[in-house]
Amino acid sequence: MPLICFASPKGGVGKTTLAANVARELARAGREVVALDLDPQNALRLPFGVRLDDPAGFTALLRARPDWQRCLRGTPCGVGLLAHGACDLTAAMALAAAVSAEPELLTAPLRGLLSRPGLYVVADTMPGPSPLLAAALPLADLVVTVLLGDAGSVSLIPAVESGASYGAAAQERPGQPPPVRARFVYVLNQYDPRTRLGPPIADAVARHVGKRLLGRVYRDENVAEALAAQKLVADYAPGSKAAQDMAQVAAAVAMWLQPGQEAAAGGVAA
Ligand SMILES: Nc1ncnc2c1ncn2[C@@H]1O[C@H](COP(=O)(O)OP(=O)(O)OP(=O)(O)O)[C@@H](O)[C@H]1O
Ligand SMILES: [Mg+2]
Repeated sequence: MPLICFASPKGGVGKTTLAANVARELARAGREVVALDLDPQNALRLPFGVRLDDPAGFTALLRARPDWQRCLRGTPCGVGLLAHGACDLTAAMALAAAVSAEPELLTAPLRGLLSRPGLYVVADTMPGPSPLLAAALPLADLVVTVLLGDAGSVSLIPAVESGASYGAAAQERPGQPPPVRARFVYVLNQYDPRTRLGPPIADAVARHVGKRLLGRVYRDENVAEALAAQKLVADYAPGSKAAQDMAQVAAAVAMWLQPGQEAAAGGVAA
């Protein structure tokens, strides 16, 4: 049913980390969840423990219109994984061109997946606009932008809000993708209150986006260590600050997907 896209204008901010761990938390809360990797980096599989030399993924066959159900792989935490698959530059460019020319290659099977009652699809995306994100965006219910606590991140918020950062169509026009109906929410990642800029930047983000700031995830070495161990944070370091923060973000995501619940949803005070 709902599609949640993790996105950001900048790279290396924690999209993949948050997409994987939020998917895990949603599954732990009893939901059926599919984690969908729309980034040719093919990294979403890593925290789910897929072997590094495993090339399998759904995009290699996208143009042959495969049954996505067959591409789904189980993971120990119960999240179904649609790995992107190994992808060199030529394959990535061919895929981007194919989806730009024919977004239905992605949106038709994605709509099929989203028609399953009760299923949550959590998508990881590459930084900035991309053909795969632009195609998926009109189907999204929630776009979670991951920001770092630096001055540059605050300056990016207006472009995110307008949809420009992600290549979204602002209005309906012939030949353009349908406009975005998703709500735009934010997570501040790698928050460190001991730095001089940490608290004022967090306040500035909260002032800009108000209750749409789902939470802060503290900078925590357990996160990087969990990735090195190819584990999800709550499995690698249960009870760690980052695991608690991610659980709170997942709860806020779930709240935002309840109709009319935005007012009660998470949010961080300025
Ligand atoms: N809260 C955190 N505390 C400490 N390290 C973190 C935290 N969040 C993410 N990291 C680390 O930051 C690095 C980048 O994270 P990640 O790969 O999730 O970013 P990304 O936005 O998906 O990057 P890309 O744009 O390349 O796809 C990883 O090494 C990850 O372990
Ligand atoms: Mg990533």
